[in-house]
Amino acid sequence: MKHLISIDDMSDIDSFLLSVKDIKTVPKLHQFDLQNKILTNLFYEPSTRTSSSFHSAMTRLGGKVLSINEITYSSVSKGENLQDTVRTMGYYSDIIVLRTQNAGDAGLAAEVSSVPIINAGDGNGEHPTQTLLDLYTIYENLGRSGNFRITFIGDIENSRTVHSLAKVLEKNCRVEYLDTYNFDTLPLSDVYYLTRVQRERGSTGSYQLTENNIRKMPGDSIVMHPFPRNEEIPSWFDSDPRAKYFEQIKNGLYVRMALLRSYRDFP
Ligand code: MLT
Repeated sequence: MKHLISIDDMSDIDSFLLSVKDIKTVPKLHQFDLQNKILTNLFYEPSTRTSSSFHSAMTRLGGKVLSINEITYSSVSKGENLQDTVRTMGYYSDIIVLRTQNAGDAGLAAEVSSVPIINAGDGNGEHPTQTLLDLYTIYENLGRSGNFRITFIGDIENSRTVHSLAKVLEKNCRVEYLDTYNFDTLPLSDVYYLTRVQRERGSTGSYQLTENNIRKMPGDSIVMHPFPRNEEIPSWFDSDPRAKYFEQIKNGLYVRMALLRSYRDFP
């Protein structure tokens, strides 16, 4: 059984990115691909983009979705553990998309699951599907998914999106990390990847890109953010051609369609 717990579980990312391009070109061609399949969206932490884009992706492929994202109304509120919940949902669905509060939880779920688990973020561990949409957005904008300079800015220690993306890019890119919040200058980069301060994981502080920082970013660089954003990027920057975070959000749908479709032959 093929689980996606870490980005390391993706064996051929370049071919995957090409499959996303195909789906994005004519999504309707795939509207019946998963018509007899059911996905469980099991979210123990809040989510807007990840849960909705998986829901939309499954629906656009003709499948159905069971959503447990308000755990107050499930047996979790009666003390049920993750493993029992995962085993249960495996009887009712063909694949489980799982977001949890602790690093390592997705791996624990995979040990007992009878259906594939897709890690949709485990605490400050990993977030592999965010990495796929980040890489696809980079590929669309730079024309390549490696051999560039990237600077990660923000709460590096607690950002699971950074952890997964850096695992891939450290192999073939110049990667720099900026986790102090009072920087004057930014390294020269092709990609600036900002993250919010993860207050729910005990992080404190804040930062915001200044006009001066932005003026010094190369004209052909791109600025990314997994969202939600807090104060890191002022909203007046949204109309700058270098701002790519809304493209990331849009690509999340096609990336998750391509990913779910790759599971179509599972029983
Ligand atoms: C995540 O789930 O990790 C988000 O997409 C990024 C964040 O929460 O800051």
